[in-house]
Amino acid sequence: MKVVVIHGQSHKGSTYHIARLITEKLQGEVTEFFLPKDFSSFCVGCNNCFVKSESLCPHYEELKPFTESIDSADVIILASPVYVFHATGSMKVFLDHYGYRWMVHRPEEKMFRKQAVCISTAAGAGMNRTNKDMADSTFFWGVAKTYKYGVGVAEVSWDRVSSKIKKRIDRKTTVIANRIKKNANHISPSIKTKVYFNIMRLMQKNGWNKADMDYWEEKGWTGKARPWIED
Ligand SMILES: Cc1cc2nc3c(=O)[nH]c(=O)nc-3n(C[C@H](O)[C@H](O)[C@H](O)COP(=O)(O)O)c2cc1C
Repeated sequence: MKVVVIHGQSHKGSTYHIARLITEKLQGEVTEFFLPKDFSSFCVGCNNCFVKSESLCPHYEELKPFTESIDSADVIILASPVYVFHATGSMKVFLDHYGYRWMVHRPEEKMFRKQAVCISTAAGAGMNRTNKDMADSTFFWGVAKTYKYGVGVAEVSWDRVSSKIKKRIDRKTTVIANRIKKNANHISPSIKTKVYFNIMRLMQKNGWNKADMDYWEEKGWTGKARPWIED
């Protein structure tokens, strides 16, 4: 099982350790990226990715290792500490670059057979919003199943997190890893994803953006083909 982890921070605190517990339990081949250390370019708002091609993004080459790892992974893990009730700026800056992959534009078909985990930690509150910041992208990318795990660690340093909380984290990460392994070979998108995809499909038949319309047509999705069904 291939796993890619995008860490929304460059240090190894509570969020890192929880992501690591899951990857250890998955026993997969892991590729990790740390933000902003490995990528810190802001979207310049040129809109080239949407209206022409993602290859015209000024950061296309810089993003290639991320894109390739995400595309070849079975499991995508997005992990971020809560910063003022949301994901870190670094995570947001990263996710902005994949807006063109949202179902309303040009979703990558491999996404519909992948699983994702969104992990966030906070001293006290904001995990739901932070996980949503990341899970919005995995959902609209078309990822078949996203697990969300938010933990209030009641600390700002992993070393000082209580053993009671660490035990709870250990149990929950085992549950998540086991679910991922169980679903690994027969993953299919949720009804919500399929319904949303179908709405997008109808939209693309009379769309407004040629790059997107051509893409959907070429994939056969405006006809009978579906990204979650292999030919
Ligand atoms: C800039 C900044 C903003 C933060 N905002 C929040 C917050 O809104 N709510 C909260 O409960 N904790 C907040 N915290 C605390 C962290 O979310 C918390 O300590 C988290 O577990 C840190 O994860 P890490 O060890 O992976 O860095 C903030 C910390 C920083 C540095």
